Amino acid sequence: MTNGGQVFLLDSPITAKREVARDMFVLAVRAPEIAASVRAGQFVNIGWFSGPLLRRPFSVYREDGENIEIILKAVGEGTSQLLAMKPGDRLSCLGPLGHGFGLEAGPRRAVLISGGLGVAPMPLAAGEATKLGIHVTWVHGARSSDELCTESQGHEVVWATDDGSKGFAGTAVAAAPDADVVLACGPNRMLAAVADRWPEARVAVETYMGCGTGVCLGCAVPLKRGGYDRACKEGPVYRAADIDWPSLPSHLPYAVTA
Ligand SMILES: Cc1cc2nc3c(=O)[nH]c(=O)nc-3n(C[C@H](O)[C@H](O)[C@H](O)COP(=O)(O)OP(=O)(O)OC[C@H]3O[C@@H](n4cnc5c(N)ncnc54)[C@H](O)[C@@H]3O)c2cc1C
Ligand code: FES
Repeated sequence: MTNGGQVFLLDSPITAKREVARDMFVLAVRAPEIAASVRAGQFVNIGWFSGPLLRRPFSVYREDGENIEIILKAVGEGTSQLLAMKPGDRLSCLGPLGHGFGLEAGPRRAVLISGGLGVAPMPLAAGEATKLGIHVTWVHGARSSDELCTESQGHEVVWATDDGSKGFAGTAVAAAPDADVVLACGPNRMLAAVADRWPEARVAVETYMGCGTGVCLGCAVPLKRGGYDRACKEGPVYRAADIDWPSLPSHLPYAVTA
């Protein structure tokens, strides 16, 4: 799952903003070098003038050659400031960072499972899989229909809501069919359920992060074989069975149950 590519530090203007679910927004920023090299599951670490001391990590949601997009909700000071910004305001974008899903040709069917804001790496993953000739089913889960991101990609889309207000009544994991390759992103409790059902699944994990570049050890992921990895360097995508799930904090603010 290596990137092996260059990391860019770019001064990137915001170029667009749209709402894709209740309080969930996509920001586009001009970052051509990152757009040209990013792989699904990689992230950017974003800072801005008068922002928090530490950059904030976000998966790359889409790219169009010139721009990359990120998707977010306001969950704290940093995300609230980002969502108060306007097109033309500038961000400092460091990336692409980490190891992505590492999709390769071969598998016939992939299922993408997202819970809440776990949609973030999935459009890039759906695009890469489709280009490789893989049939993509994307299972989109959230607590209720108004929290479901309205955007989707792939050959088939399955909707799942905890309250039954759209699609399957229950979790995205319960709604998902089996496939040759399973990719997942969402709250850690959801990913632990993915690991129980598909130990070989590739899961994009979110932890607290400091530097995003392997230096501060702020992003430790406990491993089943013992010891820790750095989510920003060895991750954020892992083989589901490799993570010691009970030791990984379920601190994410994402709204979806396991
Ligand atoms: C590799 C990676 C990719 C991510 N991709 C996305 C994404 O695409 N979209 C998105 O909305 N969020 C994503 N996150 C989470 C995002 O970075 C945090 O929500 C953000 O840093 C919170 O900043 P804040 O200043 O608003 O919140 P803070 O004021 O710092 O904290 C508010 C709340 O968010 C939680 N939180 C803080 N930092 C993190 C963190 N790094 N990870 C998880 N929870 C955190 C806190 O526990 C608290 O509940 C990603 C995190 C990682 C590590
Ligand atoms: S965030 Fe600093 S080592 Fe990973």
